[in-house]
Amino acid sequence: MDIKNISSKYVVKKLNSRDIPEIYNLCQENKLYYKYCPPIVTEESIKGDILALPPDTKIDNKLYLGFYSGEKLIAVMDLIYGYPRQETAFIGFFMTNTAIQNKGVGSEIISELCDFLKRKGFISVRLAWIKGNPQAEHFWLKNKFTILDEAVYNASRSLILAERRLGLAAGNE
Ligand SMILES: CC(C)(COP(=O)(O)OP(=O)(O)OC[C@H]1O[C@@H](n2cnc3c(N)ncnc32)[C@H](O)[C@@H]1OP(=O)(O)O)[C@@H](O)C(=O)NCCC(=O)NCCS
Repeated sequence: MDIKNISSKYVVKKLNSRDIPEIYNLCQENKLYYKYCPPIVTEESIKGDILALPPDTKIDNKLYLGFYSGEKLIAVMDLIYGYPRQETAFIGFFMTNTAIQNKGVGSEIISELCDFLKRKGFISVRLAWIKGNPQAEHFWLKNKFTILDEAVYNASRSLILAERRLGLAAGNE
């Protein structure tokens, strides 16, 4: 994947273990997310996230990405392509830096990502959020994701599974 073409505005890089302190700083400010999706992030949990995969997927199909404005990490995304079907990409995690939230940055990144995936021939993007998380729900519905299903997450919470259709491919890069 030519990841530099995922964003026209931000520099996109694959994150690795050297980036964990910076990822941790970004994540730990997002208190609302961890209220709905505990436990609170740690450097150790990020180490696990960098390698985590859904069932029947390979590490080659995973991109754990950082979006940078200059030197500053402004967003982190876990993207699995070809899951749960070959023509679908799955956003396992997406989080922006609280310092730049509610300014349209998250929506801009998702919009450009969807354009990129469409050019690559994908027909849909899927993801899930914890039912009742107002910030996540508002954000994904605003970004044209529609609810597909609800699943059990744990004893007290459900997951909402949602999808955005990308329409017909406009051609490959
Ligand atoms: C969700 C998230 C990625 C959005 O990033 P962002 O850069 O702020 O995105 P945007 O500015 O494009 O849009 C934010 C929208 O959420 C809304 N919002 C923010 N906090 C909210 C809250 N507590 N309740 C309801 N809506 C909320 C904003 O009003 C805005 O919507 P609007 O344009 O209709 O007013 C960011 O808030 C985040 O990282 N949250 C923690 C992680 C998370 O929940 N990720 C998604 C679930 S996997």
